[in-house]
Amino acid sequence: MPVVFGKAPGKIILFGEHAVVYGQPAIAIPVKKVKATAHVIPKISSEAGQVQIEAPDIDVDADLKSLDENDPLGKAIYLTLEAVSPNHTPSFTLQISSNIPISAGMGSGAAITVAIIRALSSFLGKSLPDEKISELAYEVEKIHHGTPSGIDNNVIAYQKPVYFVRGEPIQFLSIEQPTHWVIADTGQKTPTHETVSAVRALHAADSTRFGDIFNQIGSITHNARTPLVKGELEALGWLMNENQRLLEKLSVSSPALNHLIKAARTAGAYGAKLSGGGRGGNMIALASPDKIESVEEALKQVGAKSVITTLLPKAETD
Ligand code: PMV
Repeated sequence: MPVVFGKAPGKIILFGEHAVVYGQPAIAIPVKKVKATAHVIPKISSEAGQVQIEAPDIDVDADLKSLDENDPLGKAIYLTLEAVSPNHTPSFTLQISSNIPISAGMGSGAAITVAIIRALSSFLGKSLPDEKISELAYEVEKIHHGTPSGIDNNVIAYQKPVYFVRGEPIQFLSIEQPTHWVIADTGQKTPTHETVSAVRALHAADSTRFGDIFNQIGSITHNARTPLVKGELEALGWLMNENQRLLEKLSVSSPALNHLIKAARTAGAYGAKLSGGGRGGNMIALASPDKIESVEEALKQVGAKSVITTLLPKAETD
């Protein structure tokens, strides 16, 4: 059996985080400059079903059987074995690597899961379709997030820009005009389940006020769809700034995020907002090609830990 590998990109949410948990739409795009990769290396002369997992980036070197039942790596492997149901489980080593920042809103957990499912299912001779991969990855996302909306596993499994409404069939966006997105990391790591819980507590205490904020975020996301497809920078920038204003009301921004957002806007970005769970992690800024460098520079100057610019390309036509 040859070595087989699978990979998956990072992602970034452009509009609608948090409100998406409450049934509003969100828009997310893949970030192909960063990725998670899984290699399956057959073990020739050992007992059957012996699985070793090596993930040096997250300090894991373990036998599958020794992992806790809620370990996300183990869960991804068991779910894939269940979905493929091979006649026998061969012995193999699973090597996982990723350069997607962890707990920064770039979907590192979902990308690692998708890479594992892709690599292992193809190693076992039955490559699973994207829809199934997304479905399995959602089960693993529940370990990471508790009550994930499902946006991460979808955008990462399909590797396409998505307009996502929880519980509804995924809608892909067919981009007509490319846009550039500058992503900057505050360096502060806040797990998504923490901010999701904080927002849930606010909503429980005043469902009218916060329900209304979710509705407003939903309208922004809805209104951003066509400008994103058509690359209308001014409209998109304005909507991003409005979305950020509402995220601040949800208490999920932070001084470090506000600082980076202000710097990007001052340097000429059309708009800027936090992306993902918030209270740290990443922010994104929309810049025209001639402003990318100054926005990147400004973000580094005010202390961004890393800056990545990603292109949302025109959709390929058949
Ligand atoms: O922190 P991220 O990028 O994984 O995204 C969190 C997005 C939320 O809307 C806050 C939660 C969710 O499950 O959609």
